[in-house]
This record gives sequence, structure tokens and C-alpha cells, in this order.
Amino acid sequence: MPSMIGQPLDALDSPQLLLDLDIIDANLKRMFDAGKDRGVNVRTHFKSLKCGGLAQYIKARGGTTFLSAKLNEAEVLADAGITDILIANQIIGPQKMQRLASLARRVTLRVCVDQADNVDQLSRAMKEHGTTLGVLVEVDIGMARCGVLPGADAVALAQHIARSPGLRFDGLQGYDGHLQLVADAKERRAKSLEALEQLVGTRRLIEKAGIPVPIVTGAGTGTWEFVAGYPGVTEIQPGSFVLMDCIYNTVRPEFGCALSILATVISVRPQWYTLDAGSKAISKDFGMPCVKSKLDEKATRLSEEHTKVECDTATRVKVGDRREVIPAHCCATMNLHRQCLGVRKGKVETVWPIEASGRYD
Ligand SMILES: Cc1ncc(COP(=O)(O)O)c(C=O)c1O
Repeated sequence: MPSMIGQPLDALDSPQLLLDLDIIDANLKRMFDAGKDRGVNVRTHFKSLKCGGLAQYIKARGGTTFLSAKLNEAEVLADAGITDILIANQIIGPQKMQRLASLARRVTLRVCVDQADNVDQLSRAMKEHGTTLGVLVEVDIGMARCGVLPGADAVALAQHIARSPGLRFDGLQGYDGHLQLVADAKERRAKSLEALEQLVGTRRLIEKAGIPVPIVTGAGTGTWEFVAGYPGVTEIQPGSFVLMDCIYNTVRPEFGCALSILATVISVRPQWYTLDAGSKAISKDFGMPCVKSKLDEKATRLSEEHTKVECDTATRVKVGDRREVIPAHCCATMNLHRQCLGVRKGKVETVWPIEASGRYD
């Protein structure tokens, strides 16, 4: 296959997943500069990216710490040369312990826990493999997914970790996932601060019990600015800000949409046209995508390999025309593709495999 490097977009076959590198640069600069100004670490969530080349690109621009949702994503990060990784999730079951211990030997690795049995399992595994794992207690600050309740339950679990061989108690995670897309910014801020108070209140209780709490981490792209700089919080963990999508862009317009799917018009009717990419290339779990730079063209239906876009096609659209489609959910779209093209000023600069796409282990 001829190299795509240096090719203009018109020369490419479609569909293709494009990442606009100038927009990524601006998004990274905005977030990392804000982190520096506010004295918090920005840990970038790799579940939004899943691509080792992109992790290296972010590292070269100052983002050296990452988190992941899954063990396989953490392994891809380590293979890409990232050495500070938080798996922001519970790792359960004997099948995963060997992999976790091997990874803990290669990088500074942390996981989240929310129950004592899991702490015991992790401790046994790390002892057996002669390594140490950092552990954060996940606190449920309102999302009602994983996590212990703030307060006494979290203190008891922190004490349990601090007593467990092979483990190091490193702090707390409280993710306000239920607030990320609250449309009203004032309401989002008020609720985020309320949730945060439970997290830092728990920090104070653990410190009172004589256990240091070096890391307190939380927030996503929707709440980053309320959490960054809040007293008692040491880091934020957004992911979508790097690539963005048309849903997140409505609540966070300061970050540009870098991810798009290059598609070709394959059929034209008077009131709509149809593109050669559908839900197998553009995630629709958060809703309909947008057509880049075409405000009067409205995507109304995705089937597996087609997107229907409604507009007055009479004078403007013909078969073979190109469109860039901005998905409603960047993270789920990255998960659908095996490679992405980094483009700058309309030309392909790099081609990266998306190593962790389609993997759930
Ligand atoms: C634990 C955790 N932290 C942070 C985030 C923030 O990610 P994003 O910035 O994409 O909303 C998520 C999103 O799912 C998450 O699960």
C-alpha cells in the first residue's frame, strides 16, 4: 500500500479517521497551561485515545501522566514509553493479577479499589511477584457507579491498604461523571463543588487518622476548571478535551473538535445525501454527528455503513463530494477504528495504529 504521508485529504480513500494536529496542539496547550497556572497535575485519560502514538505525541508536549479505564490500555501506554499510569478502575479476578504485577514492575502503576477483598487479592499478587502497586480508594461523590461512600468507609479502606504488604496507599479518586454534560455552567459548577467537598472532606479524615494522602484526583472535560485548583485536589483527569466531539463542544467550546471522519457522498436525492460511513465508523451512542463547517446540513440517521444528511442538495451536493463528520462521542469512535491519520493544514503528517481499539480486557 502506498504511503499516505504527505498526501492531501482529497487523495485519500474514505472513510478515514482524521485527527487535526493543530487543534490537538491548541487543546493540549490550553489544558496543560491551565494545570500549571492552578498548580495541579493534568493526567490525560487514555480511554479517549487508545493510541500509543498519540500518547507519545502528548508526552512530547508536556503531558507525561496518564490514566486508563482498562488493563490493556495501560499496557499499550507502557509499550509507548509512558511511565506513570493510573488504572482508574477496579481490577478484579485471578486472570488479571499476573498481568497487573508484570506491569507494576515496568512502570509506576496505580489502581483504584472500593472493597477490602480486592485489596487482599492485589496484596497477595504483588507479594507473590515481588513488586509494589500504588492504590487509590475510589470515592463515590454522586455518580453512583463504583466507589465507597465518602467518610468512614473510605477511611477504613485506606487503613486496610496502608497495612497490606505489596501495596502503597497513594490517595483518593472521586470522579463526577454525572455532571460532565450538565448544560447550565452555573449548575455544573455548584454541583461539582458540592461533590468535591465530600472528596476533600474524606481526605481530611484520612489524614486525621495519621495516613498521608499524596494524590486526590478527579474531574473530566466538563468539570475540569472547577476542580483544578480546588484546595485539597492535586490533579485532574480529563480525556475528551484532546480530541473533542460535537456533544462535548456544546458545554466546552474552548476546546476544538480535532477528530473527524472523512467520508464521501455516495448518493444524492433532492432533500438529502448519503455518506459512505455509518455507525460502524461513527459512534452514535451519544447522538447524531455534525457535518464540519456545514451548519445547514443535518445528519439525521446512521445505519451501519451509511449516514443520511438532510439539506437542500439541488445546487450544492454531488456524488463524489467529500465531507468531514464530527462524531457525538470521540472516545467510542476511537474504539471503532484500527488506525488514525494525524493531519496538519490539509495534509497527512502521520499514521498511527489505535492499538487498544476493540479490546475490553
Ligand atoms: C474515572 C474517569 N475519570 C475521568 C473521566 C473523564 O473523561 P472525559 O474528559 O472524557 O469526560 C472519565 C470518563 O469516563 C472517567 O471514567
